[in-house]
Amino acid sequence: MHQEAPAALSSAPLLFQLIQTSSGTEASTSRPARPKPGLRPGPNIKDTGSRMRGTLGLSLSLLVCLTLGLLCVGLACVWSSRFRGGFGWDGSGLEFNWHPVLMTTGLVVVYGYASVLYRVPMTWGQSKLLWKLLHAVLMLVALLLSVVGLCAVFDFHNKNHIPNIYSLHSWVGLCAVLLFAVQWGAGFSLFLLPWSPLSWRKAFKPVHVWLGGSILGLSIAACISGINEKLFFVLKGGNHSQPYSDLPSEAMLANSLGIVIVAFGLVVLYVLTNKRWQRPEAQPQDGAYAPLNQEETDS
Ligand code: HEM
Repeated sequence: MHQEAPAALSSAPLLFQLIQTSSGTEASTSRPARPKPGLRPGPNIKDTGSRMRGTLGLSLSLLVCLTLGLLCVGLACVWSSRFRGGFGWDGSGLEFNWHPVLMTTGLVVVYGYASVLYRVPMTWGQSKLLWKLLHAVLMLVALLLSVVGLCAVFDFHNKNHIPNIYSLHSWVGLCAVLLFAVQWGAGFSLFLLPWSPLSWRKAFKPVHVWLGGSILGLSIAACISGINEKLFFVLKGGNHSQPYSDLPSEAMLANSLGIVIVAFGLVVLYVLTNKRWQRPEAQPQDGAYAPLNQEETDS
């Protein structure tokens, strides 16, 4: 279905080329080798041109995605460290400061990177199992970062006798984290463990894809509402500080963080929903698409 891979594959680092070579060798001993995506016979010049444009568009989008993600983490760190006094784990505002950094990094940036992993052309034509595992590990890292981020805000609230789970932000945020935990557990059991029936995997895959995008949307909504809430809390205009309505530099920075988070989410969703950029489908005989030790023809 997609044939943009070879340009990117040819420039893949040695490690990945080795993986590709070894999986090709394995295939040649046990089952007929399938043609590498893009190396199928007889593409005309028009096809080649449109494929190259497709690969360029995908690579540019992934680069933008990488840059915006790093910018999100950087802006969140600068906000907490430069404007809010830095980090600590002592029940004070310094402990709270971990919350925006870890939630943004985990539930938006690492989550977004893990979501677009299968779209990286370098991963095509290689064992999908490796990338499935990396996808699952990155998602687990995202989940753990967000759990620590939640611990920071709950501990800060409890030590300062602030009520829990009263705001719309906290409701939306909690829904995002709970759905993410359910999604990770279901994805792990169905796509990585060997005993899940193929029919279940096939049936669950569209739900997994839809829920994945929805969780990203919820996380972004939680970040935007959290940033706004925090700015209203701290920029009240007393104690010689400027009110939010004067747009002091802290507000400029935090508003910009919100915009960059939204832009990152839009680029991730654009990459995910562009059908031309999906990983080329496996051939039925391709063992690379099997879960841990079971053959798989789909997902
Ligand atoms: C995906 C991202 C986020 C999620 C899932 C999330 C989740 C939560 C949850 C569940 C609480 C309630 C804690 C409690 O009741 O003790 C909370 C509190 C809070 N969060 Fe976030 N948060 C996220 C991002 C952010 C960001 C980026 C900020 C920006 C500063 C932020 C600011 C706050 C503030 C000010 C509170 C305390 C007030 C309240 O409970 O609403 N959050 N967050």
